Amino acid sequence: MSGPVLDVAERAAMSRALALAALAVGATSPNPVVGAVVLDREGVIVGEGYHHRAGAPHAEVEALAQAGPRARGGTMVVTLEPCRHTGRTGPCTQALLAAGVTRLVYAVPDPSPDAGGGAAELAAAGVDVVCGVLGPEAERVNEAWLTAVRTGRPHVTLKMATTLDGRAAAADGTSRWITGLEARTDAHRYRARVDAILVGSGTVLADDPSLTVRHEVPSARPPLRVVVGTRPLRAGLRVLDDEAPSLVLRTRDPGEVLAELWGRGVRSVLLEGGPTLAGAFVGAGLVDRVVAYVAPVLLGQGPAALGPAGVCTIADAVRLQVDEVVPIGTDVRISGRVVRPEGG
Ligand SMILES: NC(=O)c1ccc[n+]([C@@H]2O[C@H](COP(=O)([O-])OP(=O)(O)OC[C@H]3O[C@@H](n4cnc5c(N)ncnc54)[C@H](OP(=O)(O)O)[C@@H]3O)[C@@H](O)[C@H]2O)c1
Repeated sequence: MSGPVLDVAERAAMSRALALAALAVGATSPNPVVGAVVLDREGVIVGEGYHHRAGAPHAEVEALAQAGPRARGGTMVVTLEPCRHTGRTGPCTQALLAAGVTRLVYAVPDPSPDAGGGAAELAAAGVDVVCGVLGPEAERVNEAWLTAVRTGRPHVTLKMATTLDGRAAAADGTSRWITGLEARTDAHRYRARVDAILVGSGTVLADDPSLTVRHEVPSARPPLRVVVGTRPLRAGLRVLDDEAPSLVLRTRDPGEVLAELWGRGVRSVLLEGGPTLAGAFVGAGLVDRVVAYVAPVLLGQGPAALGPAGVCTIADAVRLQVDEVVPIGTDVRISGRVVRPEGG
């Protein structure tokens, strides 16, 4: 089989590999999520795999094990460029060559200095190599890890619940609940996908939140709960209980917060506010994605969902490239990537 028919089989296999990779979002840190499918010479799927967690076999190795001798002369379809380094497991490039794979189709190059370059190594060994199949979709599934590797700091998603008139709370400080149960449950799914949840001391003192993954959302491991602020926190606050690990960072410098978290192995952060801390992170250019639950509720008074972020004129507005507008119960979830200014 050759030509367009093979292309269709490879694109379908890449779709499947992406679905496999997505199964492990939130479970593989500090590693990426990766899915792999092996096609035999006829383009038939003979092996599948994904990276379940750091230290477990890489997706390619799992897929090759399933394929066995049927991988010989076949194609490896994988969401990320195969690694060429020996970490906790051996290099995937060697596993592909040992299995006799003659074609590699991958979606996104690996930007990490030690693991990247696997495709060039395989091409030099005579393997037919194609890059970029379903590249944008593969970038999206690995957005947090790719951002972390490229920038050297954790990926930050700002989550906010806001009224239609852009408020985070009523004039008396009450904010429970702006959004409905479905939206709040959905937000717990975002918690389950990150390494750390971040809030300011204002939110902790006002709301005494637990910041754990609940609402029966499955979670590979409890995310680290991080409180940022210089005020002393009273004993007995839920965020300091034993339900999940906690960390109090007595600083107001967003860059310092992310550097500290990076040092602790955190690669993805869900910033849950409140408005002051969120504004500081947006102002420092340290928010990569915004997920806003907008409720059909009007308050007319009360704090804005985002505090000062250094924007004084419309030309400086922080803009998003929206890739999702989804009704969630009675509310709407809007999600978009922060667009960086030219050269920024
Ligand atoms: N609707 C929502 O999605 C949502 C989410 C969260 C909270 N809320 C509501 O927001 C309200 C609390 O608002 P808030 O703005 O006080 O909460 P906040 O942003 O959680 O906390 C503000 C505090 O964060 C600390 N901080 C850390 N870095 C900072 C920086 N770079 N600049 C300034 N301060 C920094 C300061 O604490 P120190 O003074 O200790 O240094 C500051 O007082 C509550 O009513 C809560 O219900 C709403």
